[in-house]
Amino acid sequence: MLRRLYHDQPETFAFTAANQAWAEAQITKYPEGRQASAIIPLLWRAQEQTGWLTRPAIEQVAKMLDLAYIRALEVASFYFMFQLQPVGSVAHIQVCGTLSCMICGAEDLIGVCKDKIADKAHALSADGRFSWEEVECLGSCANAPMAQIGKDYYEDLTAARLSEILDELAAGKVPTPGPQNGRYAAEPLKGLTSLKDYDSGKTQYNASVQLATDLNDTVKRIDGTEVPLLTPWLGKGGSKPVPAKKKPAAKAPAPKVAVKPSEKATPASNAVKPAAPKADAAATSEKKPRTLAAPRKAGADDLKLISGVGPKLEGVLNELGFWHFDQVAKWTANEIAWVDSRLKFKGRIERDDWVSQATKLAKG
Ligand code: FES
Repeated sequence: MLRRLYHDQPETFAFTAANQAWAEAQITKYPEGRQASAIIPLLWRAQEQTGWLTRPAIEQVAKMLDLAYIRALEVASFYFMFQLQPVGSVAHIQVCGTLSCMICGAEDLIGVCKDKIADKAHALSADGRFSWEEVECLGSCANAPMAQIGKDYYEDLTAARLSEILDELAAGKVPTPGPQNGRYAAEPLKGLTSLKDYDSGKTQYNASVQLATDLNDTVKRIDGTEVPLLTPWLGKGGSKPVPAKKKPAAKAPAPKVAVKPSEKATPASNAVKPAAPKADAAATSEKKPRTLAAPRKAGADDLKLISGVGPKLEGVLNELGFWHFDQVAKWTANEIAWVDSRLKFKGRIERDDWVSQATKLAKG
C-alpha cells in the first residue's frame, strides 16, 4: 500500500506539557549522540495525542531529535502502526486478516466494519467517530478471529459481537476486552484438560485483560493527564535523575587497571584520586570545578573514550574547560551537579559513572 501524508494537514503541532515532559524524558534513555533512537516512542506519543500522525507532528519530532525531516518521515511512512490519515475520534478498529483469523471469520468482521463504519479501509465513518483497517497477524491466533481496538485485543469475535462492541463504543462505553466467547484466555474451547485445579492468584480476567481493565487506558487519547509518566530511570518525581547510592570511595576497592610502566609516573595519574561519595542530586548544591582555558601542552585527552560522551558532548566539555581525564576524575558530587546543570541531557554523568571511567582512563 502506498503510504503518503494526508492531503489536509493542520498548521502546527505541539505536545501537551505533560507529553512534552514525557518525550524529553524518553530522549534521556539513549546515550549521547544516539538521541535519534527515540524517534519511534516520540512519533507514537504524537499519534496517541492526536489519533493520527500529522506532518507538523513529524516535523516537531524531527526537530526535537536534531534529525532531518526526511529521516523522521521515512520512519513514519515505513511502519504501518503509524496512521498517516485521520482515524475515528472514538475508535480505530484493526481487524486481523491473516490466516487463522481469516479461516475463523475475519471476512465477516470486515463485513461489519464495511456496513457500520465505511466501505473502504482508512475512511472515516459519516460522523467521523470510527474508522477501520485490515492488519497482519497480531499474535493472538489462538483466539481467532480478533481485532485490536485502541490498546486492547478483542478476541474470539463473531460478526454479531463485533457489531455490539461498535454500538457500545458509540454509546461511550468501553467493552471489556479479551475473549468474547467466555474463554478465560487461550485454553481449549471445551475447557481445561489439565491443571484443572490450578487457580492460585487467579484474577477475574486473564492478566492482559485485568491490566487493561484496571488501567482503563483503552481507546482514550493520551494527553499526559494519565500520569504516572513511567520514567523510572529518572528517579522519583520523573524529572531529576537520582544517582544510585554508592559506597564511600574510601571503602571501595581500587579499580584494577593495568598500568604501562612508561605511564606510571605521569603527573596526571598521580593526581587522580578516587571519586568522592555521591549525594542525592536533588540535595546537592553546585560548585564549579577547576577548569582550564586550554588543554595542557601534551594535548587534550580523547574524552569520547568515556562511555556516554560523544563528539557533541566532548565539545561542550571542552567549552566548559575540561580537556583531561584527570579533571573529570576529580569531580566531587557538588562539582558533578555544576557540570550536569550545563548539559542538555541531565543525569548522564552519574548514570554512566564518568568519574570512575575517567579515573581508569587517567591511569592509562
Ligand atoms: S492470524 Fe489473526 S492474530 Fe494471528
